[in-house]
Amino acid sequence: MSLWIRDARVVSGGPEEPFHAHVRVDAGRISAVTSELALAPGDELVDAAGRVLLPGFVDAHTHALFHGDRLDEFERKLRGASYLEILAAGGGILSTVRAVRGASEQELAAALGERLGYMLAEGTTSLEVKSGYGLTTRDELKMLRAIARAAGDFPGSVIPTALLGHALDPYQPRFVERVIEETLPAVHAEFPGVAVDAFCERGAWSVTDCRRLLSRARELGHPVRLHTDQFNALGGLELALELGALSVDHLEATPAEGLQRLAASGTYGVMLPVSGFHTDQRFGAGRALLDLGGKLVLASNYNPGSAPSSSMPLVLALAVRHLGLSAREAIRATTSSAAELLGLSDRGVIRVGARADLLLARHRDERMLAYELGGNPIARVWASGREI
Ligand code: NIG
Repeated sequence: MSLWIRDARVVSGGPEEPFHAHVRVDAGRISAVTSELALAPGDELVDAAGRVLLPGFVDAHTHALFHGDRLDEFERKLRGASYLEILAAGGGILSTVRAVRGASEQELAAALGERLGYMLAEGTTSLEVKSGYGLTTRDELKMLRAIARAAGDFPGSVIPTALLGHALDPYQPRFVERVIEETLPAVHAEFPGVAVDAFCERGAWSVTDCRRLLSRARELGHPVRLHTDQFNALGGLELALELGALSVDHLEATPAEGLQRLAASGTYGVMLPVSGFHTDQRFGAGRALLDLGGKLVLASNYNPGSAPSSSMPLVLALAVRHLGLSAREAIRATTSSAAELLGLSDRGVIRVGARADLLLARHRDERMLAYELGGNPIARVWASGREI
């Protein structure tokens, strides 16, 4: 028994122009993308009526596992305090660290599970979730276990990242050494091969300490990613490229020469427009990176400090307004390119053999997904062929 989605405007997630087709799904995979509708008895039929069918969003950079909120800090921010000032005063990431340390693995998994539910309703069928609000070995492992636990109940896929260098912990002496000598080996033993990440910034991890952490992670066989050039370009981008990082994430402060080096490398540039929108109206140069031939991914950066939104439609809306992308370029950067970055080679595109993570939009023109603001343009969601 097959599922047929009839008369869809297919926006494939790849480079091709949108086209009209019927899409058949069998056993969780796309089995035909065709102009011939060949219904068999017992097949299920969904009439797309010319509406846009696209791959499920792949959100490749999130901090969706957190506890508590940062409402007081939001009010300070509205009165003029900057993100780095709040962090330097012991707030920001460190506020969420305190809240996460006070929560159990079960509480964290339940909080993440609830968020995964509403992310799915907005079309996110695969996502990355970082640790990074634990900072002690025990609490980083607790976060990674909570991510694995919540992932088990999610019909899409959750890819964990060990964000071991997210902030400097004022409560642990020899903190950087402890992360490298104790936390990293413990994470390696329980989560071999998980990507390791850090935040290279003034008041967070220095280039020197990122080099020590990420080089050791590479020696242990972990892919590495790096939050860099969010507020200051300190040399994190060059370090990440030297280490063959999977991605460099943020890039709001990257100068033109840095973008050129990135475009010439195999590393993905991950831009996070909600962060710029919420924090200080600075955005990565997405248009320039694509024009230079670089590999661009867009993600939500969902977290309680710099990006309190899980909405990938909002990411599209901001990318066309502030990064200079077309709606189709933005869709590609949130589907097939993001899936490639996460190593999910079987999804992010509508083609025969791909996993049937599919979204049916309310609209007949994909530009509407980026034009509308603040609603949910996704009418129906399938994960692995099963409607949610
Ligand atoms: O990618 N800047 C570092 N990490 C996150 C923010 C985390 C937080 O503020 O809680 C980011 O923007």
